[in-house]
Amino acid sequence: MVQSRPASSSPPAAHHPGSPLPADDSYARVADAELERVLTSFDTCYVWRYGSVQEGLRDLYAKAKRDQWDAALALDWSIEVDPEEPILPEAINPLLGFAPYERMDEREQKRVRHCQIAWQLSQFMHGEQGAMIVASQLVGAVPWMDAKLYASSQTMDEARHVEVFSRYLRTKLEWEWPVNPNLKRLLDTIIGDVRWDFKYLGMQILVEGLAMAAFANLHQLTNEKLLKDLIHLVMRDESRHVAFGVLSLQDFYADMSGSERRDREDFVIEACELMRDRLVGEETADAFGFDREPYRQAMVESPILQLFRQQLFSRVVPNLRRLGLLSPRVRTAFDRLGILQFEDADPAAQDAALGLV
Ligand SMILES: [Fe+2]
Ligand SMILES: [Fe+2]
Repeated sequence: MVQSRPASSSPPAAHHPGSPLPADDSYARVADAELERVLTSFDTCYVWRYGSVQEGLRDLYAKAKRDQWDAALALDWSIEVDPEEPILPEAINPLLGFAPYERMDEREQKRVRHCQIAWQLSQFMHGEQGAMIVASQLVGAVPWMDAKLYASSQTMDEARHVEVFSRYLRTKLEWEWPVNPNLKRLLDTIIGDVRWDFKYLGMQILVEGLAMAAFANLHQLTNEKLLKDLIHLVMRDESRHVAFGVLSLQDFYADMSGSERRDREDFVIEACELMRDRLVGEETADAFGFDREPYRQAMVESPILQLFRQQLFSRVVPNLRRLGLLSPRVRTAFDRLGILQFEDADPAAQDAALGLV
């Protein structure tokens, strides 16, 4: 069970969703006040057998060490970014045709686009923090030394990802959004579960699989050089993280009893339903005086976003199949969500096509 409580019952005065961050150091004071504690409990294990037991994990760890990078040096942070200029092409803006958006003047529309990209990157940043916490939990929880070594390297990778997204948001976009409640619900479930394989399944297979597809989409669409370079470096790491999950779990579910397996299937179905249609960012509507429900509806019905949300699952579904979790129940649910079409997709080929391996 997840128990959480905010450190303070009232929000900090200077951090309003929808307002650009203050440029001075008052941001640091506001952020310090935003702390949430989650009580977790899971078995932590020593492993006294230091040799390899899971084929492939040592190689992946060797690659992880070899491919470390320093976010301060690997990216050109001197690039100037104008957040009012389209970071994503206007032609794919899902709000085109949404009457309240169309009625705005050009200056207001620029501000909406600035908000959209800030919201999206903010969710990436919060997801990266979740990944950093879960990777650190896996170091303690996972029962093989190879996986402890790998998860240690992943914890550092995720720290770097938090660093780059937060730096980009703070210094280039100067606008940051709180975590979306549905994303937060999924992160809470993964962080709070006592079973180590749920942490893998939730983070390495689902969240990171979805993130890889979202990153690939953003990388392809943006012409903003710093963001493009940043995303490419993050994707190189994420591609390994998904492989870590698949390698670690590939034989794990084969002998699992019916009821235990059913728990995993329920979790997969619920998480995919949550991520399929409930991550549209209707909270941003408030910043522009749009009503949330018509805004949410416009985002859900946008043909561009419908396609995008389906493609988010192009790595998740084939990887679940490799783990033996694409049971008839899961297939029925995925068919309903319109994502079963990806069961024969090849994530390794997708990564190779993007130059990541
Ligand atoms: Fe990451
Ligand atoms: Fe990751």
